[in-house]
Amino acid sequence: MTRVLSCIQPTGQVHLGNLLGALRPWVAGQHTCDAYHGIVDLHALTVVDTPGVVGDDTLELAAVLFAVGLDPELATVFVQSHVPEHSQLSWVMECTVSYGELSRMVQFKDKSASREGAFISAGLFTYPALQAADILLYDADEVPVGEDQRQHVEITRDIAIRFNHRFGDTFVVPEAVTPPAGARVMDLQDPTSKMSKSSTTDAGCIYVTDPADVVMKKFKRAVTDSETDVRYDREAKPGVSNLLDVLGAVTGRPPTELADEFTQYGPLKVAAAEAVVELLAPIQARRAELLADRSELARLLRVGADKARTVAAATLDRAYSAIGLLPA
Ligand code: TYM
Repeated sequence: MTRVLSCIQPTGQVHLGNLLGALRPWVAGQHTCDAYHGIVDLHALTVVDTPGVVGDDTLELAAVLFAVGLDPELATVFVQSHVPEHSQLSWVMECTVSYGELSRMVQFKDKSASREGAFISAGLFTYPALQAADILLYDADEVPVGEDQRQHVEITRDIAIRFNHRFGDTFVVPEAVTPPAGARVMDLQDPTSKMSKSSTTDAGCIYVTDPADVVMKKFKRAVTDSETDVRYDREAKPGVSNLLDVLGAVTGRPPTELADEFTQYGPLKVAAAEAVVELLAPIQARRAELLADRSELARLLRVGADKARTVAAATLDRAYSAIGLLPA
């Protein structure tokens, strides 16, 4: 059975990009794959320094993951800091990746540029090493992610191949898998930038918790272009193509086919908004129910961490003995 691993950071609120690019494909995958999904709280430390925030966000994010449909009976959902092997293997990864490779990471360039003049942690730079540990610990064949994470999966492959070459076959070399539509949901106000938790305004970002009227308003105000024809062309018509892509991802239909059904932007915006409202309604209701019993959520995460540790500990042992560290 294909082993799948993918993770999400507990920073800010979950948005439509996370949902379409990652969470929905994870839910679909849990029925056919052996699935592991982590809430990567240690990654969040690269940009968060306020006490208490990460823990609260972790539990809230767990509620969203279960509300979207991850089933603790099928998928292993865990918190990264509950599985100490992530930090342990991360050091080995840091020693297997070069300064030059880390310097080429687009996410580091973007995030450090946006924090100019503020504190830029060393963790922000070495972040891909921890991410490689997340993936390689689980012998993942596939890593279902949005398009923006491809580079991080590529560097993980390079690290795995280098380690296997140095110390003998130890890690499975994983592959990134992105969904056919929704792999790169763009900001509704700036369709040349991806929808992101760190967007400068909320107007271009649909949050999973947005009420129906807010979703409708954000879509109606979405930036398109001065032409009038509806066609799927991400280069020439990024705004319209983004709306078609969202509608396609939600309905499971090809964006090019959907384009033929609209002659004006207005009805396309409304159709995309309505589809998203319908998608979000049951998720919001289930999320509220789950958050009413936080101790049950915490219990589910402990069960997930126990399962994750069994796999992660075995892989860490294998890596240490491949290197030839003196057994404890
Ligand atoms: P994060 O927390 O930023 O995002 C979680 C997932 O959502 C996807 N995503 C998007 N997909 C489509 N359109 C968008 N606008 C959009 N924005 C985000 C991301 O691609 C991701 O799949 N570094 C990772 C977390 C991580 C990880 C891992 C992922 C840590 N360890 C191991 C996979 C495997 C991140 O910051 O994702």
